[in-house]
Amino acid sequence: MDGGGGSHRREDVPQVVACPDGPFLVRGDVDIVTPDGQPIPRTRRTVALCRCGLSTIKPFCDGTHRASGFRTT
Ligand code: FES
Repeated sequence: MDGGGGSHRREDVPQVVACPDGPFLVRGDVDIVTPDGQPIPRTRRTVALCRCGLSTIKPFCDGTHRASGFRTT
């Protein structure tokens, strides 16, 4: 952390980005698990998690939020 509120980011620190009107982008070494703790496989370092509730591939985003007009504000 740079402590100054700047844009520098340590690559080894996981990050969740709340995309406006879209998914949460999860970057870094984070385990994604079911409510009972079963691992959900991921093949990419950055994945998009659905927060509109409409994806057909939950917990991942499939882009349906765009057609649905999902808004986060
Ligand atoms: S946020 Fe993208 S399909 Fe739900």
